[in-house]
Amino acid sequence: AVQRTLVLVKPDGVRRNLVGEVLRRIEAKGYSLVALQLRTADRELLAGHYAEHEGKPFYEPLVEFMSSGPVVAAVVEGQRVIEGFRALAGTTDPTTAAPGTIRGDLARDWGLRVQQNLVHGSDSEESAAREIGLWFPGLG
Ligand code: CMP
Repeated sequence: AVQRTLVLVKPDGVRRNLVGEVLRRIEAKGYSLVALQLRTADRELLAGHYAEHEGKPFYEPLVEFMSSGPVVAAVVEGQRVIEGFRALAGTTDPTTAAPGTIRGDLARDWGLRVQQNLVHGSDSEESAAREIGLWFPGLG
């Protein structure tokens, strides 16, 4: 079925001028942009976005990092795009993410407290609906 997913280019990706490269890979794969914005997230938005990670040891550094500069948020649409974008992104740990993926090709471990892994993609239809509602309250 046609799905929508929330993609973020995290602050490391924006700082490294990789926004175009990430969007290029999404579009080249055949997915469509439905909404797009550049913005610095505040703690309230991130608390909602990362509610499931609250209490984990990397939570505070994660919120700190994610609010450290602008991110690009996109709603991306296509058949099975939730699974599809996660395949494009590669696994969470950029050191071992497969070459050919966004993280595998463009990210590495910098020895920091949070894995700076360039992008986020929703992990299920439920998360996608929740996350799209948080980042794009105007979208049905
Ligand atoms: P993301 O898909 O945005 O979801 C949670 C984020 O937390 C993840 O990407 C990483 O940036 C970060 N993360 C997940 N696990 C760890 C970990 N074990 N140590 C540090 N950061 C992590």
